[in-house]
Order: sequence, then structure tokens, then C-alpha cells
Amino acid sequence: MADGLNLSRAEVHGVVSFYHYFRSTPAGNHTIQICRAESCQAMGSRGLEAHAKKVLNIDYQQTTADGDITLEPVYCLGNCACSPAIRIGDEVHGHVDIAKFEQLLSSLRTQVVEVK
Ligand code: FES
Repeated sequence: MADGLNLSRAEVHGVVSFYHYFRSTPAGNHTIQICRAESCQAMGSRGLEAHAKKVLNIDYQQTTADGDITLEPVYCLGNCACSPAIRIGDEVHGHVDIAKFEQLLSSLRTQVVEVK
């Protein structure tokens, strides 16, 4: 990439490592972002993230062994009134407790991923 942009490898690495939306490895088929900002934390997102990490057996910025799900932290999805909030792909979900998370996760696991 550095050669193609006529930049040094350090410059490319600096940008990729600074902006969290850039990745150096491919994401899973689905990306789940759990909001860690104030409103969501006040409404239980810490327990939700602990549960997500446990059931997926991954930490933030990691992808499940089957390559299906990547877990990421996010700091406010603009859905504070419905905290705790998560985003799966482009969809934001509010009032996500563990039961709702399990339901969303189950529906993700049964989706067929389109090959692009
Ligand atoms: S604090 Fe979580 S959506 Fe705003």
C-alpha cells in the first residue's frame, strides 16, 4: 500500500493504527459494536460486553475462530435514549440486555452470508 501511495510504511502504519475503522486484518462476516459511552455504561453495557466476550470467546478487536463475528467497542451510537445500544452491521439496536443480545446473535448465526 505504501508503495502504491508513494508513502513510507511508517506513514501508512501511523494512519491505519490511529483510525480504528481501518483494519490490518479482515473483519468477520458480521461486526458487532457495543457502546461503551456514559449513557450505555449507566444502563448496563459493561455486563453486556462481558457476556458478549464470554459467549463469543473473543475480546474487542478480535474475530471468532470461524471468522463469523468481529467484536468492537464504540463510543456513542447516538441512541443514548435507548441505552444500552449496539450496532450490528449498519443496524443500531437499543435496550439490548443479555436476552436480546442472544436473540440477535442467534439470528446472525442463521443468516446466509452473500459472497461478494
Ligand atoms: S452512550 Fe451509547 S448510544 Fe450514546
